Amino acid sequence: MQDNVYLPQLARVVRIADEVAGERAIKTYHVEPLDSAGFEHACGQCAMLSIFGRGEMMISIASSPLVKEYKQFTIMRTGRVSLAFHELAVGDVVGMRGPYGNSFPIEAWRGKNLVFIGGGVGLAPIWPLITTAMAQRGDFGDIGVFYSTRSSSIMYRAELEALRGQADVHLEGWRTHQAGVAAGTAEQTVTAENSVAVVCGPPAMIKSVIQNLCQLGFADEQIFTTLENKMKCGVGKCGRCNVGKDYVCVKGPVYSWAELKKLPQEY
Ligand SMILES: Cc1cc2nc3c(=O)[nH]c(=O)nc-3n(C[C@H](O)[C@H](O)[C@H](O)COP(=O)(O)OP(=O)(O)OC[C@H]3O[C@@H](n4cnc5c(N)ncnc54)[C@H](O)[C@@H]3O)c2cc1C
Ligand code: FES
Repeated sequence: MQDNVYLPQLARVVRIADEVAGERAIKTYHVEPLDSAGFEHACGQCAMLSIFGRGEMMISIASSPLVKEYKQFTIMRTGRVSLAFHELAVGDVVGMRGPYGNSFPIEAWRGKNLVFIGGGVGLAPIWPLITTAMAQRGDFGDIGVFYSTRSSSIMYRAELEALRGQADVHLEGWRTHQAGVAAGTAEQTVTAENSVAVVCGPPAMIKSVIQNLCQLGFADEQIFTTLENKMKCGVGKCGRCNVGKDYVCVKGPVYSWAELKKLPQEY
């Protein structure tokens, strides 16, 4: 992390991929720090991205920590800053500060079965976990990936298809699983024994999926998610992101369901 937490590092956009078109379009960016030192991150951490004169926003680092050359970010167009990112071209320079937040305890999951359940752009925060686990495939048991989306386009489609054979990949249309993709997981081979489930997506989807995982026998300690509360500073100063006593930018964004249940239901 930089000495001055408010001072962004400069980073160059080296690749832009269109994932989903439309009003809430999604694009994926690879950015390389101009200062070759960059920063190390862990699965689940985020960075504050900025464009001079347009603003800053918190975005999950979507590349595996094993990838050192660039950081990957997948950004949905929602407002001012994300729109500015969607107007960028390869070669443009952006600001990046971080890494922020806690991380998924992937080291403690070795030997376990992993179930990843993503909805919409919520695949991005769990993508570093999926790609890290796939790079170290022999260290884990069965790996299942369930992805659903409201749009007709599936983000990371080629990358997800490439996982087939080494992982159990299910790409479901959101509308076919009104109660959330866990309805699909229930019909599949997901078992709670020696397993960890990681869920990320819209809040309604997270809640329904967690309910279904509990019905499948997952204990609260076996279920993990991330909170995307509104954030301004990312470093526990502005008080914008709190849930109860926690500043999510510092204590989160990664929580087990056991931890989340102890907090007020303000998320
Ligand atoms: C820990 C964390 C990780 C995130 N990771 C990603 C990611 O990988 N990809 C991605 O596309 N987005 C991610 N977000 C959401 C992203 O930060 C917001 O969508 C972004 O700040 C919007 O900025 P804007 O200026 O374009 O929109 P604004 O003009 O500020 O707001 C436009 C719309 O976005 C909503 N919004 C604003 N801030 C947030 C927020 N923090 N979370 C959810 N909705 C918000 C507003 O309610 C409004 O509807 C993450 C947020 C957090 C806190
Ligand atoms: S974003 Fe400022 S305290 Fe969390």
